[in-house]
Amino acid sequence: MQQIGVGICGLGTVGSGAYNLISGNSEEISRKTGRVVKITQVGCRRDHPDCDLATTNVTRDIFDVVKNPEVDVVLELIGGTDVALRLVKEAIANRKHVVTANKALIAIHGEELFKLANDAGVCLKFEAAIAGGIPIVKAIREGLAANEVQFLAGVINGTTNYILTEMETAGNRDFTDVLSEAQELGYAEADPTFDVEGIDAAHKLTILSSIAFGVPLKFDSMYAEGISEITVEDIRYAGELGFRIKHLGITARTNRGIELRVHPTLIKKTEMLAQVDGVMNAVLVGSDAAGQTMYYGVGAGAGPTASSVVADVIDVLRSGETDQIPNLGFVAEAIQAIPVLDITNIESAYYLRLKVIDVPGVMAKISTILSEHTISIESLIQKDTGQGEVPIVIVTNRVLERSVNDAIRELEGLKQVEGPLARIRVETFS
Ligand code: HSE
Repeated sequence: MQQIGVGICGLGTVGSGAYNLISGNSEEISRKTGRVVKITQVGCRRDHPDCDLATTNVTRDIFDVVKNPEVDVVLELIGGTDVALRLVKEAIANRKHVVTANKALIAIHGEELFKLANDAGVCLKFEAAIAGGIPIVKAIREGLAANEVQFLAGVINGTTNYILTEMETAGNRDFTDVLSEAQELGYAEADPTFDVEGIDAAHKLTILSSIAFGVPLKFDSMYAEGISEITVEDIRYAGELGFRIKHLGITARTNRGIELRVHPTLIKKTEMLAQVDGVMNAVLVGSDAAGQTMYYGVGAGAGPTASSVVADVIDVLRSGETDQIPNLGFVAEAIQAIPVLDITNIESAYYLRLKVIDVPGVMAKISTILSEHTISIESLIQKDTGQGEVPIVIVTNRVLERSVNDAIRELEGLKQVEGPLARIRVETFS
């Protein structure tokens, strides 16, 4: 059998997972590809306790790997967008196929790298960049290829989902405690603000949106909001109203443009996405022929992410020299630069929480302001704390975000309203 050389750059959680999966499942991989896949070199700053590297060619300079003539496929598993970009460019220039798990790299530099790879006649694959072990790129790009995709919504960051789940189930758990746990489990990014502030999910959604709609990678036009403003109080009120709070990536094709947004979202407890807990990920896709399909699985960690990395290696071996599937699922000439809607231009329902001083007529004032902005109240909770201050929670109808912003400004200007309002978008998918 022909031998194929794989070079691994980076031996962290994903790199060690890929190393062990290629070594452990070598027979299964040969049965599926008709080739022997051999790890010919590993480039890493330090060894990984989970990998036995005794018989492996190890270098401390990852650039050795992309120069090595015995390496046919380079696995870029170092992350980041600086060294990783140079590494992938050099690998392509040396006519190596590249498999990466790097969402930031693809979201920000994907178009340039795809062009370089296509011109060089090598594959550049990135299934592992989104939702770990869930083959979501393949599902949309290949399985749903016949469809016009209408929308996509997903829990695509395991760390934030883990934190929100813990806040809901364990009550008042300390945010930093839960985050450290996610870090120990190998789920959180090296810089966890990428998780908590929604940047990681924004990278992933950028890629998913392009694959879904055949639009350019538009990370710069993304609206990204994290979970740092979400309180246990909001989770509890949402629960009383029949909702759960999930940090979602949402992209949709509307007749006014593309929606591209990442933010905490209230969804009804009966929605499939509401059942996704802990570090699990799920992506719901609405398309014209298949209807709604949902993809669920572990979104991070060594085994699941390596599963997608190695599946891409297998695809490279199966597709031969040239990749017949366009990187983003659409032929380059058919990519349409549909504008991305500014967040103030999207339509959604809203959860509003405000604290008011309990004096007669205050509720009437609130309703008047809302109705002047064509906002109606769908549900309301008003709690009497007996301390003169009353929390009021409102869920509105669907309305343009800029109308809600205007109404919030006026509500916050009322002398009976204390402090800033909490505002969370509310969505319905099924
Ligand atoms: N930090 C990411 C997450 C890892 O928590 O989902 C997988 O991309």
